[in-house]
Amino acid sequence: MNRDEQLRREAVETVNKNKQIAEQDPYRLHYHIMPPAGLLNDPNGFIQFGGKYHLYYQWMPFKTDHGAKFWGHYSSSDLVNWKHEEIALAPSEWFEKNGCYSGSAIERDGKLYVFYTGNVKDEDGNRETYQCLAVSEDGLHFDKKGPVLELPKGYTAHFRDPKVWKQDGKYFMVVGAQTADLKGAAALFSSENLTDWEHKGIIAGGGTGKLKNFGYMFECPDLFRLSDKDILIFSPQGLETEGMKYQNVYQAGYVTGEFNPETGEYTHGEFDELDRGFDFYAPQTTEDITGRRLLFAWMSVPDQNEQDHPTTDYKWLHNMTLPRELTLNNGKVYQQPVRELEALREGEAVEYTAELNNETVAFNGVLGKAVELLIEDIEVSEGWFEISIRGNARLVYSANEKILTLERKSYTNGIVEKRQCKLALLSSLRLFLDTSSAEVFVNEGEETFTARFYPDPENKEMSFGASQKTNFKIKKWNLQKKFI
Ligand code: FRU
Repeated sequence: MNRDEQLRREAVETVNKNKQIAEQDPYRLHYHIMPPAGLLNDPNGFIQFGGKYHLYYQWMPFKTDHGAKFWGHYSSSDLVNWKHEEIALAPSEWFEKNGCYSGSAIERDGKLYVFYTGNVKDEDGNRETYQCLAVSEDGLHFDKKGPVLELPKGYTAHFRDPKVWKQDGKYFMVVGAQTADLKGAAALFSSENLTDWEHKGIIAGGGTGKLKNFGYMFECPDLFRLSDKDILIFSPQGLETEGMKYQNVYQAGYVTGEFNPETGEYTHGEFDELDRGFDFYAPQTTEDITGRRLLFAWMSVPDQNEQDHPTTDYKWLHNMTLPRELTLNNGKVYQQPVRELEALREGEAVEYTAELNNETVAFNGVLGKAVELLIEDIEVSEGWFEISIRGNARLVYSANEKILTLERKSYTNGIVEKRQCKLALLSSLRLFLDTSSAEVFVNEGEETFTARFYPDPENKEMSFGASQKTNFKIKKWNLQKKFI
């Protein structure tokens, strides 16, 4: 048996044993992508190929911690029902021995080309990085071609997460980087043939321009066109908290601008976070055949109390967000759950038209662990409006301060913690609540809040409160269980 076969066999054996424990966990999610066992992090190689959506993912199958990552694989024909496929990439070769790290996929001549980072550490812990290519006919089995790009001068070995696209007949790649003077940067490459890559320079960060002093590392960059703008998404590390901004250990957000494929220049505006919640990192997008720009993100943040999640007791850790569709409205990226997710709804909605005034109420049938809540025509005259969720989380809008807040009881110490954003007006909320996660889409995607939370598994209660006159309509659906 060669090294690749051996690693795969060990992974499958461990996962088959541990998934029986994972399946006992009351916090196992019902309709979010999770690993069968072990740790999941970044979405990788997200693409529609051969009539299916493919979502590969960073996977440590042996334990609920980071390490020499594999590429796990889910496929779907509708973004709702996912099949767990066999391991796509195992870290078996010298150029990836410490992990097949994050990367992306592109189709050429009916074949799938995936680019990923081969992570290597020597005996002294020094890091090496190789941007590697693997090619597949079916999206399931990959032929590793090895490194196609070595580290250019001017960067440290914190250089990873290639995202590749085609534009004007040429291929481009952005890579997350750290410059030799320890500034976070996005590096650009171009190629005619996907194997020979030319370094074009830094397109954001790196000690110049608008993001001059913007942390020490950019991870997972992604550059794409949305309406009439070129959006660069990335996950910067090393930002200081600024008021309500940058509260998590690391951030994930975007700039909008203009990319010139002739010169490889990119001019852009200010950075904005993509999500206002506790758990959102390393988002990756793809364009599907209908022209939609779709996004998945990892519903966690590196180094953010990862080992305190109670699911580690059941041998699994972390999950993806729901798939979201991006649009650009007045220069701002909006995120909406993809419309296919309506297929998760079970039966008819429970509906109410409510008027609250200095009271808290629970509506009959508006409760549950895996539910969608659509709250529309919200009018908060003054004071505050709140939704309490399963005795653990709370969403509060202050009409006076024009601030939306998500609170949860910390899974680390039980103390209430919060994330907030400015919001001039609250008109609608769409909540996707799963057994231990919440995704809140505000005003049809103007803002989102994403978080894990761990209520008492038996608690299904929800209540609505307002300090002064507040009107709204509610629809609530139970959502189907799609994962075990
Ligand atoms: C982001 C990240 C990437 C890296 C991968 C390793 O979460 O650190 O930069 O490729 O995870 O799993």
